[in-house]
Formats: sequence, C-alpha cells, structure tokens
Amino acid sequence: MKICMIGTGYVGLVSGSCFADLGNTVYCVDKDIKKINMLNSFQIPIYEPGLNEIVKKNYLAKRLIFTNNLKKAVISSDIIFICVGTPTSKNNKSADLQFVFKVAKEIASHINKFKIIVTKSTVPVSTGDKIEKIILKRKKRSLFEVASNPEFLREGEAIRDFRFPDRIIVGSDNKKVLRKLESLYEPLIKKGANFFSTNRRGAELIKYASNAFLATKISFINEIANLCEKTGVNVEDVSLGMGLDKRIGGRFLRAGPAYGGSCFPKDTKAITVTGDLYKTNLSIIKSVIKSNSDRKKLLVNRIKSILSNKIKNKKITFLGVTFKPNTDDMRESSSLLLIPYLNNNRAKVYYYDPSGFKKEFSRYKSVYFCDNLSKACNNSDLIIIHTEWDEFKTLDFKKISKNSKIKIFDMRNLYSHKKMKKNGYSYYSIGR
Ligand code: UGA
Repeated sequence: MKICMIGTGYVGLVSGSCFADLGNTVYCVDKDIKKINMLNSFQIPIYEPGLNEIVKKNYLAKRLIFTNNLKKAVISSDIIFICVGTPTSKNNKSADLQFVFKVAKEIASHINKFKIIVTKSTVPVSTGDKIEKIILKRKKRSLFEVASNPEFLREGEAIRDFRFPDRIIVGSDNKKVLRKLESLYEPLIKKGANFFSTNRRGAELIKYASNAFLATKISFINEIANLCEKTGVNVEDVSLGMGLDKRIGGRFLRAGPAYGGSCFPKDTKAITVTGDLYKTNLSIIKSVIKSNSDRKKLLVNRIKSILSNKIKNKKITFLGVTFKPNTDDMRESSSLLLIPYLNNNRAKVYYYDPSGFKKEFSRYKSVYFCDNLSKACNNSDLIIIHTEWDEFKTLDFKKISKNSKIKIFDMRNLYSHKKMKKNGYSYYSIGR
C-alpha cells in the first residue's frame, strides 16, 4: 500500500518505518527541512533502539521516503496518517490541536481522489468530527473518510510494541475503511495481534482511557509503597501477589519515582479537561494527577531524611535522569524537580546517563554531567538510582564510589534489600 505519515516525531517516524518494513511504500513528511535532511542522511533525530537499522534498510529499498513535500505525499498515498504533536495547551490543560487542524487543512487542499485520513496523534474525543468538518469545507464528502487509529508504542520499546502489539484499535463507521486498515495491519494480525474496531469517538477515547488507567495503576502502587514503608511490607510482594489475579494483572505495578514522559502527564490532564467540558467529573484521574505531583515532594523529603537533613556540600550522584531507560527523553522526569532542589540547597550534584548530557541542567551552578559512571560515583555521599538502565543493575558500589560509608537510594528497586544490607550498605529503596 502507499501511505503517508505527516509528522516525523516519535509516532510518525516509528510507525512509518515499521509500515515500510512490512512492505508498504511510506512517505514521511515533515515541515522541518533540517529534520528531513538529517533523515535523508540516516541521522535519526530521536533515541529509539533498533530504529536506525529499520530506517536505513527501508530507505535503501526505496520504500521509505522522507520529504517536506506534503502535496506530493498526499497525492501519492491512499492512507494518510496525521502524526503531529498534541502538547498540553498553554491556556488550559487540554491538548493543543492547532497542528492537527493545520495539517487537516493542508491535506484537504491536496485531495485529488478518495483518501482515508487517519489520526494517530493522541486527540480528545470528537476531534475526528472536527477534522471531517475542516475537510468538508474544501472537498466533497465522497472523496475522503476520517478514521482514528491511536498508537500504543512505549518509548524505548517502540519497535517491539509496533511488531507485537497487544491490540490494534481502529475507529470508523465505514466498513470499506475498516477493511482497508485491517489489511494494512494484516501481517501483525496474522502473528496474533487483536484487531478491534469501534466508532471513531470510541477509538479516540480508548487511547486516553488506557493511558489514564495505566497512570492510575502506577500511582496506586506508589501509594501502597508508601504504606509498605511504614508497615514493614515489601511492595514487590504486594505487586506480585496482586498481579497474579488475572483481573488485575502484574504489569505497570512497579513502584518507583513519579511517572513521567510525554504521554501520561499530558494525557491525564487532557482527559480531565474533556470530562469537565462534557460536565463529567473524572475525579479518580484528577486524584492520580495530584498523587503523582505529591510524590515528587515526597521523594525530596525522603532524600532529606536519608541525608539527616544535611544536604549542603554533599556529593549526590544521579544514575540516570531520563523518565525511563532506553530513551533520551527528559519530559516530566522526576529528576527535573529533584536535581534543581538539591542544587538550590547547595549539594553538588553529579549525574551520569547513558543517553548523555542534558541541557535542562546546564543553568545550575552545582550540577555536573559525567561521561562515565565511575567518575560520577567517585567519592559520592549518596548515589540515587533514578532510571533503570541495564548498566546500573550489577554495580559494585564500594569499588566505584571509593567510599565505604556510601549511601544508596534505589528508586527503581533494582537490588535485593537483603543482599545490600548483608554487604554493609546503607541502602534505601521504594516500598521495602
Ligand atoms: C506510554 C504508554 O505506555 C504507551 O502505551 C503509549 O503509547 C504512550 O505512553 C503514548 O501515549 O504515546 P511511555 O510514556 O513511552 O508510554 O512510557 P511507559 O513505559 O508507559 O512509562 C511511563 C512512566 O511510567 C515512566 O516514568 C515509567 O518509569 C513509569 N512506570 C511505568 C512506573 O513507574 N511503573 C511501572 O510499572 C511502569
């Protein structure tokens, strides 16, 4: 099939490359010419394991085309995916849809024969109706259909999530459109992916409800972890014990720092705005947002108590600062609150992250990036394992820190509490 992805951010670039890998001809369009030039010379603007190889292979096979020529891409394609960003709006907490609507207008002006226009961007329920209206102002009803096909890719695992999805959700009332999209996904369906179709609004809401539910699961276990710490219970046992109940399921029950990233914080806020708009109080999701924000303050207090309130002049090392491993993404990472706090309280903060230097900390006087782990940990008073990168999972802390009194705060529960105590470490973790 000939398809076109408008927007070469996470969603567009990963999905576009993977669609090409399934044998389709894919035009990836972006108005940012710098980005297009980078992609045309195999420089990938995002950090996603495995993506480089797929881009190169399909580009060389001429199935993957990077261009800023939206007109040509639209004319050449049967299915057009809108994959532009929907950031949190500056005025309120809803999703800012200006890029989606702008692209819809542009697509409309180039429609020459029947096209299926699909939103992959995360958009509030009823956005498809608005896109339809925009296009109807410019083109006849018989020339297009607007469908919804939300993505469920996780950063750092996006390729695997595309190839082996739990489900593919498509929203449209048009049987022909559903059949066409089903055949696009056929190679994945054959390998076991569930294909679920509903109406357009249903698909739009499934995406928000899913992210909000996962955020709820995480906040739930994080609060239970707080109780575990007071009652001498291991939160991992609670997660495992709960997860064995198939109605609950064990995934996304790992306690840790507050959830971050570009999706959960943004989407939980946006769905509550939609709720308010439709006079429906989504009080559970509102509590989740508050719980997650409170959690960051709680972590500050925990660090203070580990250091007996003596932060000034302490060398504190962060292992990992991104919101999760296998990404360079800093958006809404807890480290963005913790590190400035420690800097302002005159600690010396050293950080090492496999994804490299972070401009977010460059304005802080006492925050230093180290390009290797040993340098970052050398003579540290406290090591904070903030992100669960694989290379942090089997460290010899006494050796790397050269401080026999080293304190370790493992925010991801990577190490066994028992073993760490046995080895004489002052070891602190989450909910244990
Ligand atoms: C999330 C969803 O998982 C994807 O399905 C969705 O497609 C994506 O948002 C999106 O809407 O685009 P992502 O933000 O990449 O994916 O990352 P997650 O793996 O979901 O992690 C989000 C946050 O939750 C991270 O800070 C992570 O550390 C935290 N988390 C996750 C936990 O604290 N505990 C867990 O058990 C799982």
